[in-house]
Amino acid sequence: MNIQKSILFLVFACCAMSLQAKTRIERDLRHWSFSRDSVRWQTVEVPHDWAIDGPFDKRWDLQRVAIEQNGERQATEKSGRSGALPWIGRGYYRTTVSVPADCRHAELLFDGAMSEPVVYVNGRKAGRWAYGYNAFRVDITPFLNRNGRNMIVVSLNNREESSRWYPGAGLYRPVKLITTAATRLDDWSVFVRTVSLTPAEAQLRIDWKAVGPMKGKRVEGRVIDDEGHVVAAFRAPTGQTAESRLLTVARPRPWSPESPALYRLSLDIRQADGRRQAIDRHTTRFGIRTVTVGREGGFMLNGRSRKFKGVCLHHDLGPLGTAVNKAALIRQIETMKEMGCDAIRTSHNMPSTMQMEVCDSLGMMVMAESFDMWFYPKCKNGYVRFFGEWADRDITNLVLNHRNHPSIVMWSIGNEIPEQWSEEGRETARRLQDLCHRLDPTRPVTQGIDRIDEALRSGFAQVMDVPGYNYRDYKYSSGIGRLPQGFLLGSETASTVSSRGVYKFPVTISDHAVYPDGQCSGYDTEFCSWSNLPDADFLMQDDRPYTIGQFVWTGYDYLGEPTPYDEYWPSRSSYFGICDLAGLPKDRYWLYRSVWNKRKHTLHLLPHWTWPGREGQTTPVFVYTDYPEAELFINGKSQGRLRHTIYSLPPADEATEKRQMETMDLLRRYRLMWTDVTYEPGEVKVVAYDATGKAVDSTLVRTAGSPARLRLEPDRPVIHADGDDLCFITVSMTDEAGNLVPTADDQLIFDVEGAGAFKAVCNGDATSLESFTRPQMKLFAGQLVLVVKSGTAAGDIRVTVRAPRRNLSATLRLKAK
Ligand code: GAL
Repeated sequence: MNIQKSILFLVFACCAMSLQAKTRIERDLRHWSFSRDSVRWQTVEVPHDWAIDGPFDKRWDLQRVAIEQNGERQATEKSGRSGALPWIGRGYYRTTVSVPADCRHAELLFDGAMSEPVVYVNGRKAGRWAYGYNAFRVDITPFLNRNGRNMIVVSLNNREESSRWYPGAGLYRPVKLITTAATRLDDWSVFVRTVSLTPAEAQLRIDWKAVGPMKGKRVEGRVIDDEGHVVAAFRAPTGQTAESRLLTVARPRPWSPESPALYRLSLDIRQADGRRQAIDRHTTRFGIRTVTVGREGGFMLNGRSRKFKGVCLHHDLGPLGTAVNKAALIRQIETMKEMGCDAIRTSHNMPSTMQMEVCDSLGMMVMAESFDMWFYPKCKNGYVRFFGEWADRDITNLVLNHRNHPSIVMWSIGNEIPEQWSEEGRETARRLQDLCHRLDPTRPVTQGIDRIDEALRSGFAQVMDVPGYNYRDYKYSSGIGRLPQGFLLGSETASTVSSRGVYKFPVTISDHAVYPDGQCSGYDTEFCSWSNLPDADFLMQDDRPYTIGQFVWTGYDYLGEPTPYDEYWPSRSSYFGICDLAGLPKDRYWLYRSVWNKRKHTLHLLPHWTWPGREGQTTPVFVYTDYPEAELFINGKSQGRLRHTIYSLPPADEATEKRQMETMDLLRRYRLMWTDVTYEPGEVKVVAYDATGKAVDSTLVRTAGSPARLRLEPDRPVIHADGDDLCFITVSMTDEAGNLVPTADDQLIFDVEGAGAFKAVCNGDATSLESFTRPQMKLFAGQLVLVVKSGTAAGDIRVTVRAPRRNLSATLRLKAK
């Protein structure tokens, strides 16, 4: 095209953009009836998790097993392993839809359905899937009544002992009905990739496939920036059904966590005779960016080397269960970003599209995972039942559904796959990785390996684009020479355990601490026999040039897997989170922030300072800060100045490295610790000094008086009146002066009136059996989080929280707009 022609074409393209193609209609199917027995039905909104209302009971999925990957040999009773919620068994959803009379193709797009979904349309079986975590499409065209109502029924079945955590239950992710003309773009055929990128220009390659008669029709494409300008456009030759085309975008804005610029690709099918109405229009959001891994530079985004500051996330949203919700996902990702985190691993399964959209727009890199097992079981009814028949189809859907998300920088084909020691395992890894490459040649493939020695022996680790080590930092230096890749990723790290606001004495480093109350210590010195403290991972990332980053287990607590209390009842959710199940930061949040967030200073001290009965006893104080030096004062008396120590660990044999990673000496590099402070009530204060020795910052904690007030802090005062938006309100018991009362465990009652409704509540206590969906709950360590949902009408929302025992109440006004 000459310049004049291209300008004319761009002008034409801009005008055409404003015309909406009428033939393609995409609808979220939100309103369904739901039944457990197909006799009694209730009305629900999808996304829906049928089990989250409870009640908690140890009988649900009570597993008598030995958890082999934790090194157990003897089977014992594991009560809260999959969350102690009623997710086992069958469930049915039904809804009716009508389709436009001129619709020639209709399909349902399920973003995931837990699990083994079978889809019926007007009484006939239209499709099925096996894995509950994957997106799948069902062509329902042959089963439709064109001019009438169509009944869609989805039947689901969840088996006991099929999961190591809470999987949720039901249509927990959106279901879309897409209707089009006979000629249409095949949704998952559209693929936009960045072939090259310089500040001056980006080369994009765009692939698509049209389905249906293309005679006299052609595809026209436009790339549109986030201000709505068309920055590149093309017309394919008439009659062409598939193409792979190169386009140039001048002065591109690359996508990165720091600057998540997005573009849209709009593809239209049009009559070649110039009629303006598009026959189909398909829009894809994407980002311009490159990803490479290699011996030189490790992991590079847009040509720049960086190490992942990542966290693993399970898919549940705490008290909301697994029903996916945009506001909850945004809160999660924003909280992690504020900590300095730039990546998540969707452990151990396919992410939701909604989560990937949030990561695209907020700037969060993603390792998108697939499986927790292949041929050999970790749970007897797990994915092993399907792997042989379904694995390739599952990987295919994962990649095709998600490959245009700029946030996804890596695929993962598995987590701690038992057969990693074998040649058979190595060949399966190679096959699945090759499949990912065929579907998407732009991203590297990894998996989390835990049996490092065996995997190095069988070649399982060597075949991967990115060898991922789960824990076992002390094996990094002995293994790196055997890895042809020349680098390694901490695909899963830490598994440090703690409970928010709970502190145990004396403070010791321990890989097996348990207590009668079912809690773990907030001093962040407890982990598991296979895992380690955050400090060891920091050291590896800081000092070993061949590491390309880490994914901490986990960013948030999740339902199920209550290690180290797998055999303790009641305990039904994890202790691994940097934030608790309610999303409240534990102290560890500030430790990661002090190392990861380079834009803001961190100065955080622990524990709380309300210890009636501990007077005169040793009560260590830890400070998490990026400042080089700080001084601690108890009631104005200096306890001395401390600096981060210079501590390095020269590569040594595995046993020596392991031992040295579990010492207070290592911790002193990343934490300031006054270990012999004597407790006296009053005030504990820390003053931070910069590199020149100037006092630049301070923070303090006071001993709380009697509970006197309820403090309500919403994450946002105004929410959208769209029926989906959520406000997360942190409720704290304070004394008269506003100090948190960390021992308060009052039973609270909630009332929400006006343009919103009570949605859920959570206090982060892994041992609580109170329902998340009834408007009452006890405080845990003085706090909890109340979740309020908007309705579809704008107006004021009035939230009242009462503590009847103390005759206290507080009110908050929010707005839905
Ligand atoms: C890992 C496993 C995770 C979780 C974690 C707990 O070995 O990959 O799914 O179980 O241990 O520490």
